[in-house]
Amino acid sequence: ESPDVEWIDIGGLDEVKRELQEAVEWPLRYPDLYTKLGHSNPKGILMHGPSGTGKTMLAKAVATESEANFISVKGPELLSKWVGESERGIREIFRRARQAAPCVVFFDEIDSIAPIRGLGGDSMVTERVVSQLLTELDGIQELSSVVIIAATNRSDMIDPALLRPGRFDKIVYVPLPDKATRKKILEIHVNQKPISEVVDFDRIAELTDGFSGADMSAVANTAISLVLHEYLQKYSNPEDAAKHASEAHVTMKHFEDAVKKIKTQRDNKSGEKVTVPYYR
Ligand SMILES: Nc1ncnc2c1ncn2[C@@H]1O[C@H](COP(=O)(O)OP(=O)(O)OP(=O)(O)O)[C@@H](O)[C@H]1O
Ligand SMILES: [Mg+2]
Repeated sequence: ESPDVEWIDIGGLDEVKRELQEAVEWPLRYPDLYTKLGHSNPKGILMHGPSGTGKTMLAKAVATESEANFISVKGPELLSKWVGESERGIREIFRRARQAAPCVVFFDEIDSIAPIRGLGGDSMVTERVVSQLLTELDGIQELSSVVIIAATNRSDMIDPALLRPGRFDKIVYVPLPDKATRKKILEIHVNQKPISEVVDFDRIAELTDGFSGADMSAVANTAISLVLHEYLQKYSNPEDAAKHASEAHVTMKHFEDAVKKIKTQRDNKSGEKVTVPYYR
């Protein structure tokens, strides 16, 4: 599996990138050095923070930048694919990871496989999955070339047993972007797109207080789709549209309208996880 995300695709989060570099990239790149110096690396790294802040992207990017293989496992998929035998699923994943070393194993949305034991859900399954995961993590000591990363936006749902030393012992918080970061994220998402020269990105960053990276990406995409709508209304036959395509560009007004749209969507979905943030 090739993740195809690089650091440059991720706006801001410099501190988080630096921590991942140190905990993941260096040990994978310089295993001999680490062995020689007897440095013990964190076995598991847990990223947590609000939805849409770039956790999944960061895991992919650190695998790319480490030139490591990448095995991604979504919590809910693990439970459905290996119905009744999720522990075997876990064993299988770690077996594949050892073969593919250097390798990053990414447990995305780990809260769904490892919610607090004994609380709701199919607690028997959870119990077995969690203990299998712990066994594998315990056995990973010798595996300097396999790094485990997990992500969740529900760190309150994680079994405290997973957080004990020697397990997911490095915890990295991925925050909502500040104003400067929102600007950077927007710029990444409109890169190479025809944007009017008078668009004020600082102003848009100001208008989007509280927005996540995913929201900023939705703003960019929505602004562009507003241009498309306008265009196709004006030039309804394909030939005309093609002839005038070079005139199409995104203005400040499109961005402002996009911000309003995304704001409304966010308000309507408050409390609910936003999964499809795009305007269609
Ligand atoms: N810092 C960022 N720079 C550029 N794009 C970003 C950034 N953060 C988020 N995005 C955009 O938002 C999308 C969603 O990000 P991602 O899936 O990594 O969030 P997440 O933290 O894993 O969210 P969740 O907790 O809901 O799984 C990305 O595909 C990207 O388009
Ligand atoms: Mg994610």
